[in-house]
Order: sequence, then C-alpha cells, then structure tokens
Amino acid sequence: MTTLNITINGRGYSPTEVRDDLTMNDFLREYLGMTGTKFGCGAAQCLSCAVIVDNSDGTSYTSPTCVVSAASFNGKTIRTVEGHAKDGELSVLQKAFIEHFAFQCGYCTAGFLNEGQVLLERLAKNPVVRADLEKTIADALDSHLCRCTGYIKYHEAVRDVILADPTRYLG
Ligand code: FES
Ligand code: FES
Repeated sequence: MTTLNITINGRGYSPTEVRDDLTMNDFLREYLGMTGTKFGCGAAQCLSCAVIVDNSDGTSYTSPTCVVSAASFNGKTIRTVEGHAKDGELSVLQKAFIEHFAFQCGYCTAGFLNEGQVLLERLAKNPVVRADLEKTIADALDSHLCRCTGYIKYHEAVRDVILADPTRYLG
C-alpha cells in the first residue's frame, strides 16, 4: 500500500491509502468519480486517458493513466478535464472544440484537450513563428488517437485559439 498525497485541479487529496497495483485511471474514475478521464486501449497507445502533470518549475506535460500506478503520482500536481472550466465557464480551448465540432463520441476529447492546453501554455512561454505553427500543433497532437478520425478538427481548433491571440503565442 502507498499513502498517496496528490493535488488534482487545485485541490489536495490526501492522505489516501491505495494498493500499489491500482492504476491512476482507476483511482480517478473509481475512487474519485472523475470519469472525464477515459480508458481506451489500456496500453499507453491512444492517450484518451492522459492527464496534465504540472512541474514545480511551471512546465507541464501529459501522462497516460491507464498503465501508470496511482502511487507513482504521489506528491504530484495534476489537472484533469474536470479542471478546465472555471466558475461554470468553459476554457477558450473547450469552446473552440465545440465551435469546430471537433469531437464525435468524445472518447478521446479529454486527452486532446489536455494536450492542447499544455501546448498553449508552452507557446505562451516560448512562442513559435507562424511558419512553424502547423508542424508544432501536429507534433503536439500526434500521439493521440481518435477512432472517429476528428484529427483535422482538433488541429483547426487549436490553431484558431493560437491565431486569435498571435501576440501571445506567435513570435
Ligand atoms: S487508455 Fe491509456 S493510452 Fe489508451
Ligand atoms: S471523437 Fe470518438 S474517438 Fe475521438
């Protein structure tokens, strides 16, 4: 057993005793009822289960949760799809996903949303030139699988958010 101390969407969840073989996906969905994080392939291939991990230096990355133990997240600060809207207001990226009708079944959406958000935050710190934008977005979203093949819509939604605020995201 591991005594888990973790911060999720700005709220501390601790201490919680978890089995060492409990996956982070099961911890979120079954222990905390955060079912926005999905379980797809279960093999670290589709990233529908991805959450954002925030480092203490202000950088962030996404991590699968399906094959990763909850215990390995001990001491970490993470964000899930439930944390994007603030005071009932969807984030800019969530609104863009809706405007572009980016998702169909929605199974992959939380993963794409988290990845897109990490990209936006990275570009706000390290902007790219316009000429590199398409490749930058494609590279960021490349590891996520969408069985409904909404790739272009997701790409366009992220691009629109960036182009709507070029002084923030483009160098
Ligand atoms: S469910 Fe985790 S990568 Fe597919
Ligand atoms: S919207 Fe169905 S898997 Fe992507």
